[in-house]
Amino acid sequence: MNDWGRPLWIAHRGGGRAAPENTLAAIHAGAAAGFRMVEFDVMLSRDGVPVLIHDDTLERTTDGRGAVAAHDFAALRRLDAGSWHGPAFAGEAIPTLGEAIDLLIGLDLDANIEIKPAPGHARATGDTVARMVAARWPAGRTLPLFSSFDFDALDAARARAPEVPRGLLFEAVPDDWRTQMRALGAVSLHCDHSRLDAERLADIVGAGIPLLCYTVNQADRAAALIAAGVRGLFTDCLDLPGQVAGC
Ligand code: G3P
Ligand code: MG
Repeated sequence: MNDWGRPLWIAHRGGGRAAPENTLAAIHAGAAAGFRMVEFDVMLSRDGVPVLIHDDTLERTTDGRGAVAAHDFAALRRLDAGSWHGPAFAGEAIPTLGEAIDLLIGLDLDANIEIKPAPGHARATGDTVARMVAARWPAGRTLPLFSSFDFDALDAARARAPEVPRGLLFEAVPDDWRTQMRALGAVSLHCDHSRLDAERLADIVGAGIPLLCYTVNQADRAAALIAAGVRGLFTDCLDLPGQVAGC
């Protein structure tokens, strides 16, 4: 995990808007733009293979139909996960977590692996992702940061690979955020900046908890969050760091 130097810029869904989200092309785009860290979402296929995809269903980002969790990996692999973004990415495949890990290592990138379980698969997803990271991550290399909106998924990841740090992810931060973080041994708190008020922000920053905000696509908002003590920003705009003074 990183040393929380400020600010930490994270390419959202691999490469923001520069490439189809959650693909290897996206991770390449994030790296090419100079990001040191990328975030991507991981879900299980029906036969338990962890793959990079955001939605529970296939329609928005692939040419498939129906629930991700209703398809075996072999069927997911035949889908086109690039054409929706543009013809330059036609035929881009849904990657496995294993492929993404190999690419991260090849590109010398840090990662926030968001565990995104399909409904009813929280513990299995957390367990499988953690098992794969524990098995494939090279010794001595900075570990990835897990995160999830799903408490049970993170709890299962902790049980399987307690050494991999966890960030607790919220849309709006609930009042019991401290209790949840303690229960999971979480090292960071991630939330939607548009649902974060100044008082809650000051509470978290004042408690010394690394606070990471998604999805920040405007330079003035990014600068304000950084000035208020936010440590990390997920962005879709790969040129945003260059627009923010001091970054
Ligand atoms: O992990 C930060 C962010 O990716 C959470 O929202 O819906 O884009 O996965 P989402
Ligand atoms: Mg995500």
